[in-house]
Amino acid sequence: MAKLKEEGVKVGLAVIIVGDDPASRVYVNNKKKACEEIGIYSEEYALPSEATEQEVIDIINTLNERDDISGILVQLPLPKHINETNIINAISYKKDVDAFHPVNVGKIMTGDFDFLPCTPAGVMELIKESGVSVEGKECVVIGRSNIVGKPQAMLLLHQNGTVTICHSKTKNLKEVTKRADILVAAVGRPKFVTADMVKEGAVVIDVGINRTEEGKLVGDVDFENVKDTAYAITPVPGGVGPMTIAMLMKNTVKAARLLANK
Ligand code: GUN
Repeated sequence: MAKLKEEGVKVGLAVIIVGDDPASRVYVNNKKKACEEIGIYSEEYALPSEATEQEVIDIINTLNERDDISGILVQLPLPKHINETNIINAISYKKDVDAFHPVNVGKIMTGDFDFLPCTPAGVMELIKESGVSVEGKECVVIGRSNIVGKPQAMLLLHQNGTVTICHSKTKNLKEVTKRADILVAAVGRPKFVTADMVKEGAVVIDVGINRTEEGKLVGDVDFENVKDTAYAITPVPGGVGPMTIAMLMKNTVKAARLLANK
């Protein structure tokens, strides 16, 4: 960070949070903490749930113009009366460290990208760490959200995986997931993936963060039972979550470099 400062590269992250969703509050706090730990300047804009779409857009417009802010992140989900697409589109694509802006989504599709969305990028790092190459492998993603499922499939495809996306209308889900050498679960349902859905020796990445009635954090995968079937598996908490934040830090620094042409 000191070297960047010397080079005149200003790294700063602005985080906007609207309303009082407890999970969003935890995620935003973790992002701010990571910034502090590595020396990235950060600012938080915490708006009440009644804030209007225009109020959020006004803040974004100001941040777009500031040269000390390289990344702008609006924590999702937003309250129902605020249109998520309008908010994402208002962020300068050059400061879009989530890579949710249509310009960045398009760049991911063609492979000519500056930023990768943080969670799918973190998943790719975890797969790499397992030592298993994606090339030629059967990759199954459960979930088709714009934040995880769709970009995840594209990143696996870029690394020459044979990719299937499953969703709530998929027939014979178990038959499909059982084919997977690499299985990514992004469903949002606790312990959705059971041992009988997993191929022996698969790499299993759990993107889910669900809170049980007792307040315990659990993933989408039944970890205790699947761990014996899988070759490698990520825990929740402590698996994908910290990687998402690491990728956000990487994107914020990269945005600063690109903005400074360095
Ligand atoms: N809500 C859940 N995941 C994310 C994320 O990666 N970025 C933002 N902005 N909101 C989220």
